[in-house]
Amino acid sequence: MKILITGGAGFIGSAVIRHLIQKTQDQVVNVDKLTYAANLDSLGGTSRSDRYAFEQVDICDRAALEQVFTRHSPDAVMHLAAESHVDRSIDGPAAFIETNIVGTYSLLEVAKTYWLGLDAEHKSTFRFHHVSTDEVYGDLAGTDALFTESTAYAPSSPYSASKASSDHLVRAWQRTYGLPTLITNCSNNYGPCQFPEKLIPLMILNALEAKPLPLYGKGDQVRDWLHVEDHARALCRVLSLGQVGETYNIGGLNEKQNLDVIHSICELLEELVPDNRQSRASGNLQGFSGLITRVQDRPGHDLRYAIDASKIQRELGWVPEESFESGLRKTVQWYLDNPAWIARVKSGAYQQWIDSQYGGRL
Ligand code: NAD
Ligand code: DAU
Repeated sequence: MKILITGGAGFIGSAVIRHLIQKTQDQVVNVDKLTYAANLDSLGGTSRSDRYAFEQVDICDRAALEQVFTRHSPDAVMHLAAESHVDRSIDGPAAFIETNIVGTYSLLEVAKTYWLGLDAEHKSTFRFHHVSTDEVYGDLAGTDALFTESTAYAPSSPYSASKASSDHLVRAWQRTYGLPTLITNCSNNYGPCQFPEKLIPLMILNALEAKPLPLYGKGDQVRDWLHVEDHARALCRVLSLGQVGETYNIGGLNEKQNLDVIHSICELLEELVPDNRQSRASGNLQGFSGLITRVQDRPGHDLRYAIDASKIQRELGWVPEESFESGLRKTVQWYLDNPAWIARVKSGAYQQWIDSQYGGRL
């Protein structure tokens, strides 16, 4: 099967491509604009496979997308390209509206035209898999409920509102035009190659440089953490076995408060980097957790997310393989072992944004 993957130079897309090239015989076409969040290094040796092709294309550019579909004749689309960071969506929503909503619309239109032109056999097996987030369901504050596939949408941030919009477009293209779509809504991912603006890699890298670890508000917010490779396995299973028109929630059964996650990272670093000279030199005698610094809370911050993943477990037989403890240890070790990857993403635009973001808060 030939799978067109959008956003394959990002955190989750690159994990999906590594999985497909290493564990299957599928061919992959990676369509990515290469924004600040992209890093082709994340693909490692898989990008040298003769089953891999790359197209630097913006999903908002319909003409370029049409050429990609004509050139590669994909059997399926996995749509991951997005602006993905909630804090950035608060500072500047425009790119989120453009890529997540308009980009998804243009991809749906190009895919629909392509699909309508397929012969009967390919038409019946074609799939458009839209990768989305649990944030579309809003905030579970004050309850012990879980998000199910029928939970009403109630997005809180410009990011989650843009993803909710894109989910609705995908659903409409299935119901109205018959495009064979699948939607997945997943909880917080962590693991190798995550851009260090997100909680876990930011804390690891800041701690190693003896910089403050910015804790939003009280740090009592709860997220349900899933290792990115478990997510990649789930996505591939949904693509091959999922029922057209269905939604599948994906989660790790790992509800953790942010402050506890940060303490776990600090404890792992104490064990794995016992003589961190930079940290000691800055007078941080309490260890890494002494760097935790409360900052102004995120506006509109959702307090709790938690996924009921029983549908994908029951119907498609997927269960996560990684516990949070084993996955976090591997993740910390990965950042310790990959200074070249870190150096590349921490150049230029990233550094300017981090300075402007935290300069005012710390
Ligand atoms: P990411 O920010 O790491 O990567 C996004 C990728 O999309 C980048 O390679 C970027 O260059 C590309 N991209 C952005 N705009 C583009 C455009 N206009 N045209 C083409 N490519 C473009 O994101 P991620 O964390 O890997 O998330 C991937 C998808 O999964 C997103 O749709 C996100 O909403 C969803 N998701 C993420 C998480 C998570 O915890 N990270 C959880 C659930 C769902
Ligand atoms: O739930 C799925 C979503 O998870 C995905 O759809 C998003 O693409 C992904 O970015 C992630 O969103 P979050 O906002 O939950 O992730 P983030 O890593 O930005 O923040 C996790 C929690 O940690 C959140 O409650 C905010 C808090 N936080 C974050 C940062 C960056 C801090 O306390 N300090 C920080 O410096």
